[in-house]
Amino acid sequence: MNNSEKYMKLEDEYTLQTYARFPIVIEKGEGVYVTDADGKRYLDFAAGIAVYALGYGNREFNEALKKQIDLCIHTSNLYYNEPASLAAKAFCEVSGMDRVFFTNSGTEAIEGAVKSALKYAFSGDKKDDHEIIAFDHSFHGRSLGALSVTGNPHYREGYTPWEGRVKFAVYNDLESVKALVNDRTCAVIMETVQGEGGIHPADPDFIKGVRKLCDEKGLLLILDEIQCGLGRTGSMFAFEDYGVRPDILTSAKALGCGIPVGAFAMTQKVADRSLKVGDHGSTYGGNPLACAAVCEVLNLFEKTDIVSHVKSLTPVLEEALDGIAKKYPGRIKERRGKGFMQALEFTAPVADVIKKAQQEGLLIISAGANVLRLLPPLVIEKEHINEMKNILDKVISAD
Ligand SMILES: Cc1ncc(COP(=O)(O)O)c(C=O)c1O
Repeated sequence: MNNSEKYMKLEDEYTLQTYARFPIVIEKGEGVYVTDADGKRYLDFAAGIAVYALGYGNREFNEALKKQIDLCIHTSNLYYNEPASLAAKAFCEVSGMDRVFFTNSGTEAIEGAVKSALKYAFSGDKKDDHEIIAFDHSFHGRSLGALSVTGNPHYREGYTPWEGRVKFAVYNDLESVKALVNDRTCAVIMETVQGEGGIHPADPDFIKGVRKLCDEKGLLLILDEIQCGLGRTGSMFAFEDYGVRPDILTSAKALGCGIPVGAFAMTQKVADRSLKVGDHGSTYGGNPLACAAVCEVLNLFEKTDIVSHVKSLTPVLEEALDGIAKKYPGRIKERRGKGFMQALEFTAPVADVIKKAQQEGLLIISAGANVLRLLPPLVIEKEHINEMKNILDKVISAD
């Protein structure tokens, strides 16, 4: 039994079997490569599901974390701490929001965002039965609240506590949103680019139309940028590209580049009528270690101008993927995406392509059965795109 088999066996024996894991035990990473427990190296075009924006083993990031560990990891929210204050200022400045609450995950950011919207509406009319419009094929997390606004029956089945109070519209179909608005609707929640649902960017007219509708009807627009935010689409936040601004924004994943942290943030107008002292809290949320990570991530984003790097390299990635799509027209329906959030939609399930790519030393993932999803670290260079392309080409041509 090799090392990998040893650890896989332990997990199989002792953990709740909720994950259909790939048979790879990742031990360490460097740049855009990871190495497994038996020394096999992989080019990582999944980045821990859009987390490792800065790549693995970034020295400055690691040093910032080590420094904070030696100072203090946790304070609780009974007291102030320096990294949380600095991270709050940095996040608000970079997102254009006025107030932020730090969470431990994306799911918790969604919980907070939805609670904020409900409280905002409640403060207005003292009614407790407000509705939210969400979208088919959306994904917002696995807690009961986040599942309530997640539009994929696969995740929801068996747990739909808000049945009736969340209505699902069709993404990129403004009329379907308009048709669901009634006098109890208080908010619309959407991913600016749908991730798990198959990588679907919002159409510019659609998202602008939703913004206008929200303004006209007095609804809050919650944009979930947990997967698509923080440079991934070639803008700091994907909404910037569309010229719209949310009332409430959620973030996570790349925000901590591996340290578990999320955030929901809002405009002052929402904050004035929303969560107040005692309305929300978290023991770990915004702890000094997590916030030191946020500070350093945002600092390195600015220092390295990583967003411009994504923007300038996007045509290279798109050209590589277009080339593959063109070469296998019978098997690949289309390439779509924005920046470093790309998909190849196949005509059949991609599980085998993913497995064979792993054997050839490339990590890629899916977004639905037929969709291959590519979410590389934002620090990839042309050579990595070429390497990915060659492996993918080899794997697809071998079938
Ligand atoms: C758009 C979106 N929202 C929310 C979540 C949930 O985030 P987390 O897994 O950190 O709880 C995810 C996770 O994939 C996501 O992609």
